[in-house]
Amino acid sequence: MLVKDIYSVVEKDFDQVNQLIIDQLRSDVPMVEKIGHHIIESGGKRMRPLLVLLAAKALNPKEHSNEQHPLLAGIIEFLHTATLLHDDVVDTSDMRRGKATANAKFGNAPSVLVGDFLYSRAFQMMVNLGSMRVMDILSNATCVIAEGEVMQLMNVKNPNLTEDKYMDVIQGKTAMLFEASSHSGAVLAQADEQQESALKLYGHHLGMAFQLVDDVLDYVGNAEELGKNVGDDLAEGKTTLPLIFAMEHANEDQSNFIKQAIRKGSTENLAEIVTIVQQCGAIDYTNEKAREHVQHAQAAIDCLDHSPAKEALNALAELAVSRSH
Ligand code: IPE
Ligand code: IPE
Ligand code: MG
Ligand code: MG
Repeated sequence: MLVKDIYSVVEKDFDQVNQLIIDQLRSDVPMVEKIGHHIIESGGKRMRPLLVLLAAKALNPKEHSNEQHPLLAGIIEFLHTATLLHDDVVDTSDMRRGKATANAKFGNAPSVLVGDFLYSRAFQMMVNLGSMRVMDILSNATCVIAEGEVMQLMNVKNPNLTEDKYMDVIQGKTAMLFEASSHSGAVLAQADEQQESALKLYGHHLGMAFQLVDDVLDYVGNAEELGKNVGDDLAEGKTTLPLIFAMEHANEDQSNFIKQAIRKGSTENLAEIVTIVQQCGAIDYTNEKAREHVQHAQAAIDCLDHSPAKEALNALAELAVSRSH
């Protein structure tokens, strides 16, 4: 299944999501709209809305869609976009979605505040949605994401971060929102207990795979394709799995070399580090871990009836590891 075939399973709903996102950016304060449009109109893959819509469609393949799922999908894209605005300030990133980041273009302060606006608008939209269960899932998710980002921040420039702790960080900062997307999509589609936990688990594993690959691409990706800079993680002194594995498996000199770069938070020696990371098998190892999560994701939804949406969910899991952006 090609990427466009995955999206086309829920094409009509997607048009509604895109329209809704634009409508909900409305504000009387020009800077809010300016930054909102800047980041939203740069695109993005819309993976989380896709997940919401596919989860619902997999449970009710024949049912005509109503307004509820596109609204939920829009809410989650707003939450995601808010985290990106904040994340780029924290990570001092200057490129996102192929354009200057909001913080690079407008400054840190307005980016943080407009991130807050998007969070708050998302909660207003949730009230309109009117599902206490969805509110429960999403309010919990936003707390966990914030905790994940703080946990990561507390370990910046710390070369001793363990693989387990790293997994906790990515579970919080990334996998949680994927999990919340498929979970809330299922809840809103009146899933039974088994379907609900299947889709929840699917989202968790998809999100883990997605972030593992994001961390690989930060070393071996292509900035133009990615729409964001490579080497940003090292520049920030982020100890991600490619480095954790390399520090354990490369020779002592190489390991110390990486430790130093993390402590400095410098890309001065990025090219050498990329070579070490590739040669010692750290990229392969991280990709392998991602692949394991993809397999768990696919196994989780095995119990769902066969449908084009289920096929798309399986293909989406494959895409999470084969992607270059
Ligand atoms: C970026 O997410 C943040 C991570 C969790 C790695 P995406 O890669 O889904 O970003 P967009 O929305 O497509 O730009
Ligand atoms: C993204 O982590 C997590 C959130 C946005 C919460 P990254 O910092 O790795 O994401 P990118 O690489 O900036 O997209
Ligand atoms: Mg970042
Ligand atoms: Mg990244």
